[in-house]
Amino acid sequence: MEHLQPLRLAEEGLELLDQRRLPGHETWFCCRDEEEVARAIEDLAVRGAPAIGIAAAYGYYLGCRRLGATAREAAARHPIKGRLAATRPTARNLFWALDRMERVARANATLDPASFLERLRVEAASIHREDIAANRAIGRSGQPLIHDGARVLTHCNAGALATGGYGTALGVLRAAREAGKRVNVIAGETRPLLQGSRLTAWELGREGFPVTVITDGMAAYFMGRREVDVVLVGADRIAANGDTANKIGTYGLALLTAIHGLPFYVAAPISTIDLSMADGSQIAIEQRSAGEVVELAGARLAPEGAGAANPAFDVTPHRYLTAIITEKGVIRPPFAAGLARVAGREEEMCP
Ligand code: MRU
Repeated sequence: MEHLQPLRLAEEGLELLDQRRLPGHETWFCCRDEEEVARAIEDLAVRGAPAIGIAAAYGYYLGCRRLGATAREAAARHPIKGRLAATRPTARNLFWALDRMERVARANATLDPASFLERLRVEAASIHREDIAANRAIGRSGQPLIHDGARVLTHCNAGALATGGYGTALGVLRAAREAGKRVNVIAGETRPLLQGSRLTAWELGREGFPVTVITDGMAAYFMGRREVDVVLVGADRIAANGDTANKIGTYGLALLTAIHGLPFYVAAPISTIDLSMADGSQIAIEQRSAGEVVELAGARLAPEGAGAANPAFDVTPHRYLTAIITEKGVIRPPFAAGLARVAGREEEMCP
């Protein structure tokens, strides 16, 4: 089976697998500069916190390339970083990746334009490559938590499509299968934009995972019937105390696991951990358009005039997490010490 990657750098620009059209259409399109990358992030053609960070890093490079010989000066002044950073506020990896690109731009500002751009291209490619390696390490860390025959409920899509490749939560499931275990996946459909039914079911189904799609409201029913063993999700941002922002609906699932005595695992790379935020109350929650809620595939569902709210993420308080699975190992409560241990050095480097 071909290794699924949702983005790749080509000569003309950043090529993206258009996730808005999956699963019906497997089409790629090209973003030639930072504005096109920013729009692709806003429109969810590329989504998932790590993939957003990687796309933004390539977007930063393409923005500097567009500016040509003036790139060195422009990188400091021009709002390339600002445009990309304004796309989706909750994804920690976006800001982490842009900070990394900016540090490289500053450190190489005296190089000739061609060498300067090459440094940026190499840095973006490193961010991409390192993310895949981190996901494989997350898989190795987390797979012992998944027993043979486990029925794993996941939410949204924290797979290859949401990362550089392999996935975080779904990477753990891939690693469990590679270790010879049978894994049954229950994919919550994830209203309003259906990342679970459209993307997770497609991504895992093409590799032969048994996947059962359920609507978000069915989770309690299946937990009550003891038909779920584990809940495993990704994260958009993890605060210093372990409070975790992830796709809207995650908090409700965590509460249900507590009531039913089930483990609730979050899988995420170090680049998702934000030690600058003491707790989840500081995490900015992206508010998306009401149209995504009152319409489905272009068809109006709710009556004209009905209002709608559309927070894209919620924050699960750390007390409901059983463990956080990272590329540096599995962190258990108390999370603050473990998160500081794995992310401390990284954090110190961020200006
Ligand atoms: O709005 P999305 O599709 O970008 O939301 C994605 C999620 O909530 C994922 O669970 C999260 O980004 C982790 S992806 C490895």
